[in-house]
Amino acid sequence: MPKRKISLLGATGSIGQQTLDLIRKAPSIYSLEACAAAGNNLEAFVQIIEEFQPKLVSIASASKADELYKALGSQIKNKIQIIHGQASLKDIASFPFSDTVILGLVGALGLESALTALNHGKRTIFANKEPLVMAGNLIREALKNNEKAILIPADSEHVALHQCLQGQKPDKVNNLYLTASGGPFWNDKTLDFDSIKPSQALKHPTWQMGNKITIDSATLMNKGLEVIEAYSLFEIPYDKIQVLIHPQSLVHSMVEFIDGHVLAQLGANDMRLVLQYALDYPNREPNLINKFLNWKEINKLEFFEPDLERFKCLKLAYWAGKYAQTYTACLVAADEIAVELFLQEKIKFSQIPDLIEEVLRKHSAQEPKTLEIIQKADQWARKQAMTLYKEKYI
Ligand SMILES: NC(=O)c1ccc[n+]([C@@H]2O[C@H](COP(=O)([O-])OP(=O)(O)OC[C@H]3O[C@@H](n4cnc5c(N)ncnc54)[C@H](OP(=O)(O)O)[C@@H]3O)[C@@H](O)[C@H]2O)c1
Repeated sequence: MPKRKISLLGATGSIGQQTLDLIRKAPSIYSLEACAAAGNNLEAFVQIIEEFQPKLVSIASASKADELYKALGSQIKNKIQIIHGQASLKDIASFPFSDTVILGLVGALGLESALTALNHGKRTIFANKEPLVMAGNLIREALKNNEKAILIPADSEHVALHQCLQGQKPDKVNNLYLTASGGPFWNDKTLDFDSIKPSQALKHPTWQMGNKITIDSATLMNKGLEVIEAYSLFEIPYDKIQVLIHPQSLVHSMVEFIDGHVLAQLGANDMRLVLQYALDYPNREPNLINKFLNWKEINKLEFFEPDLERFKCLKLAYWAGKYAQTYTACLVAADEIAVELFLQEKIKFSQIPDLIEEVLRKHSAQEPKTLEIIQKADQWARKQAMTLYKEKYI
């Protein structure tokens, strides 16, 4: 397999650190050429730079760049270039010494870097699902226009579907089944959603992830975003994309074909397996973390239908996906604001979907023909969510 020379966006995050663990385990096949982080966790960023010695580093602001420069050892300082600001993320995504870009930023922030990576013909690994939700059409167009570009998902469900579909066309598919762990609350029918504290919602039963995706998992918005992501990636109609709660999190997703055969993908629930698949594709290389399923210990695989009346975020995501236009960009933006307000204990868990729904209702949608139209909708939705919060929830 040719060496993968990696640009890593979101190096200090959960996806970033798990990618670095793979690079650490196989330095002969992966190398870190460039990376980005906001700089909220400067110590971790310094350690990454000193260990992996990338050539180019991006950080969120000029003041953070100064702090980073001061914190680095004198030897490494002279070997790397530090750039800063949101625009510099595009330089990481298009870095000429990298052939592979891993998108591990959170939310809408990753959209421009995703398009930049594809437009520069990179192997682009999408852990960051929001760009696919907001701008699936632009991403498909960028892929079509750039022969060398490759898009590989890095959500466990979509990597499962990628493997099960094996390039089959949408008309051969009866149903896609996206599985969901369900988060911490799916099975407690008497729980009062008004009483849920951020610390409870941040306790995910299966995965260790960043705060935003963990709250999205608790509201099932994450699954809703994944439904739209599945549509964007595989162009299967929404009425054929089903969600099933699967508490064991071993079946990562399934495809039912028109002839009645079902292919499911199973594996240990560790994101490093998912990231390794995306890095090595189309090759299959030895499992770097030595994790395999022990079939003798698996005695049940359960599947349940999600309750869309209780978990309204999932219903809203289906709605936004079906009506498409700029609704999906608004969904992502309003969700980011609502989750942040909940984490700051300014709104209740139950108010997350209410706030998002109000923003969607007020939106005058347009065809998302250009990046500017999508970015305008994103900005509008953020502002609208804050206005509604001030009017209704303070
Ligand atoms: N974690 C998982 O297991 C998992 C699984 C499937 C999909 N995903 C998706 O992958 C994406 C990343 O998730 P995560 O859990 O890894 O998030 P996370 O742990 O919160 O990490 C986010 C990363 O983005 C960086 N960042 C934030 N704002 C930035 C800015 N303005 N400029 C540069 N870098 C910035 C952060 O830097 P600082 O540390 O400096 O803040 C951090 O490195 C999300 O879209 C999520 O839905 C994650």
